[in-house]
Amino acid sequence: MKLFDVYPINDITIERAAGSYVWDNNGVQYLDMYGGHAVISIGHTHPHWVRRIEEQLNKIAFYSNSVRIPIQQQLAEKLAQVSGKTDYQLFLVNSGAEANENALKLASFHNGRKKIVAFSKAFHGRTSLAVAVTDNPKIVAPVNETDNVIFLPFNDAAALKACFQQQGEDIAAVIIEGIQGVGGIVEADASFLTLIRELCDTHGAVYIADSVQCGYGRTGQFFAHDIAGVNADIYTMAKGMGNGFPIGGILIAPHILPKHGMLGTTFGGNHLACAAALAVLEVIEKENLISMAKQRGMYIKSQLQKIAGIENIRGRGLMIGFDPPESLKELRKVLLNDFNVFTGEAKPNVVRLLPSLALSRKQADEFLEALQEAIAAVQEKEEE
Ligand SMILES: Cc1ncc(COP(=O)(O)O)c(C=O)c1O
Repeated sequence: MKLFDVYPINDITIERAAGSYVWDNNGVQYLDMYGGHAVISIGHTHPHWVRRIEEQLNKIAFYSNSVRIPIQQQLAEKLAQVSGKTDYQLFLVNSGAEANENALKLASFHNGRKKIVAFSKAFHGRTSLAVAVTDNPKIVAPVNETDNVIFLPFNDAAALKACFQQQGEDIAAVIIEGIQGVGGIVEADASFLTLIRELCDTHGAVYIADSVQCGYGRTGQFFAHDIAGVNADIYTMAKGMGNGFPIGGILIAPHILPKHGMLGTTFGGNHLACAAALAVLEVIEKENLISMAKQRGMYIKSQLQKIAGIENIRGRGLMIGFDPPESLKELRKVLLNDFNVFTGEAKPNVVRLLPSLALSRKQADEFLEALQEAIAAVQEKEEE
């Protein structure tokens, strides 16, 4: 049987991983500045994470949400403590798209409305509603097309105010990434997030903070949206939550009330996924990874500023982007193939850095050195 060929892949087979390194089937070591798409939060195969999953596996891996699953409550308590959202409620799912899908449905259940405000270049996932609020027509199937979504320019306060003025009473929710990832590392202004909060309060709409990529401590705060000093009504989470074990979740403000049967999932909140997610939070706490991410990110950004030839260095914590000019468009490829460094990309030619929050200073320096050498190598090739 053939695999359904939807991924443009690198011709590399990863066999083993530890911390911020991965090794291919020829034993070649790579520095992972990509974290398998922002997923690796505490480091590949972290011993505490492995141990906790193994222990859970030997007890019970799965039972459905028809019985008490105390490890879900343990996870909720730890999340409250580490995120600071102590009075929020937790609903567990399996992926980022599923988290956003449920958040949007919940908002609509909550206020009985249909319109969703989303922003240019947003990416929220590939399930029906999540993809409908994603600003990429190429991945929206005809069946997902809807008049219920209003796309506005990102960080445009006037457009948002005008939209609420015209149809505020129909708006179920506003969904926004704290820092757009797929969109190319673009930060939401704190003042824009505050305005969303105000307009949602005034008009009875739900503020959904998509924290699937920018959340879980990556930016030096538990949620990137926290920079505005206001709370969202729903936070969606996934990637870093399980450090590679599939799990997602939504944090729901106390005024949004549950009803039996309103949401549901077979696999969401299973014992094994909760064990992985608990291990992640325990390590984040013990190793102080949120403040490490902040410090390490500031260091990398300050060093990137000194490197000639790259532009628009931006982002917070370990969610960093920069633009190589047209003459350096081969940079990511050269970094991977000649310097054994994985980085992420965003269209058209943004380099995205999304390493583990446990990236060491030495590994950061290793990256910066490789980057400078790769730039020189590309420039040399260009001159030939
Ligand atoms: C901001 C954001 N939201 C949602 C998603 C979808 O997550 P998943 O691929 O786990 O469905 C992604 C994935 O890249 C994302 O970056």
